[in-house]
Amino acid sequence: MVDQAGPERRAGARRHRAVVVCPPGAEDACRQELLDLGVKPKPAGPGTFELDATTRQVYAANLWLRTASRVLVRAATFRATDFAHLLAGAEEVPWEAWLADGVAPVFRVSTRDSKLYHTEAIAERLHQVVGLPSEDDDQPRQLFVVRVERNTVTISADASGDALHHRAWRTGIGPAPLRTTLAAAMLRACGWDGTVGLVDPFCGVGTIPIEAALLARNLPPGGDRTFAFQDWPSFEAGTWASVAGAAAAAARPAATTAAADGAEVPLVIAGSDRDPEMTALAGANAERAGVAADVTFETRVVAHLRARPGAGLVLTNPPFGKRLGDARLDGLYRRFGTVANQRLAGWDLAVLATDRKLVGLVDRRLRPAARFGQGGLAVTLWHRPAAPADASDAPGGPSGQADADERDQADATGQAGDADQADPAGTGSGAGSAAGQRDLVAGGGGEQEG
Ligand SMILES: C[S@@+](CC[C@H](N)C(=O)[O-])C[C@H]1O[C@@H](n2cnc3c(N)ncnc32)[C@H](O)[C@@H]1O
Repeated sequence: MVDQAGPERRAGARRHRAVVVCPPGAEDACRQELLDLGVKPKPAGPGTFELDATTRQVYAANLWLRTASRVLVRAATFRATDFAHLLAGAEEVPWEAWLADGVAPVFRVSTRDSKLYHTEAIAERLHQVVGLPSEDDDQPRQLFVVRVERNTVTISADASGDALHHRAWRTGIGPAPLRTTLAAAMLRACGWDGTVGLVDPFCGVGTIPIEAALLARNLPPGGDRTFAFQDWPSFEAGTWASVAGAAAAAARPAATTAAADGAEVPLVIAGSDRDPEMTALAGANAERAGVAADVTFETRVVAHLRARPGAGLVLTNPPFGKRLGDARLDGLYRRFGTVANQRLAGWDLAVLATDRKLVGLVDRRLRPAARFGQGGLAVTLWHRPAAPADASDAPGGPSGQADADERDQADATGQAGDADQADPAGTGSGAGSAAGQRDLVAGGGGEQEG
């Protein structure tokens, strides 16, 4: 993440008390990103940081943070033990800094340990002071987050608008999409920095490889979208142009890495999935994200995973499979471990999963690296560094007991073979495979609004 202040530095230098919210579990990654941006985040509860930030940094945080859900700016803090205090405090708020003519305020209120506890009544009083939305559904709105804690009211203006995990490129989503912010947090948690390859053998609509490609190209995740702060009367167009211009200048033209002889070679960033609908969506998403030339997507069952030399990271979220029988998922996870250890032997391995027992079938050396919520489920990211040459402890490791179909063993390139019973051709397009695919992904969890 690069954001160097240019000549507009003074214009963007006004200071704000800002709040950054990220998915619980992504705190370490988000904290690191904020430090990269030049601000010191102060933890303020699960998934929340407070910071002292300039206008420029507030804009840059929205544009650059890969793991954050929202950036807010403190509008006011005052004590209130009754509605008269609340009304008096609200009268003092400089609402005009965030509300342009015709923009309606929306209040999201929460309370704790306070005399004022009725969230709807609090929102109603605030609307009395600053106005109500019209009947017109198309009227532009500005969200204010109101927190009443131990009789102290904190009002913050949302600078982001749509939650930041809504990337403009991700219009194609499957039945079990991974949140973009979680994909970014997982890449960070695994220490992936774009200098080694990345493979996702259950890529769905391509969230992990596309987030990886954006990172490798140093492209901002919010490059193609707009933010709520752009509609504020206090918006500094020059500062924003400078932040966006710095981002454009910092982008790398292609995802490459240095080969042993020092030459720049294309970085491997690859996704595969058994479902051709998913890989088609992934390709279209990559196109929209501007990284189509940096990522490859293939329709391929995991048993036919392509062998790759060198070092890299296999990072994936296989079907969680709530609706599947254990036996079928057992086989899928075991087969995945076998082929990953055989064909990507020098690579790190990381798996997002809900079930510890299944994770053990992939590789017994996997250890918890981070815990998140995804689609209402508690999920754990499991990680193990690259296996040493003699990985006798790994199920399916070089000297381990490979339990994949023997035909698969002859398939060193991942091209031939016939190891996946539901899809003998390995194309994901065989008769009967569609129902199986939907079944396999059905338990993967949906995307939540954050
Ligand atoms: C939980 S989803 C992955 C979601 C993905 N991370 C995303 O953001 O869209 C699991 C994926 O595994 C795929 N899958 C299921 N069985 C497979 C197999 N045997 N080989 C390859 N892919 C498989 C499904 O088609 C589904 O897209």
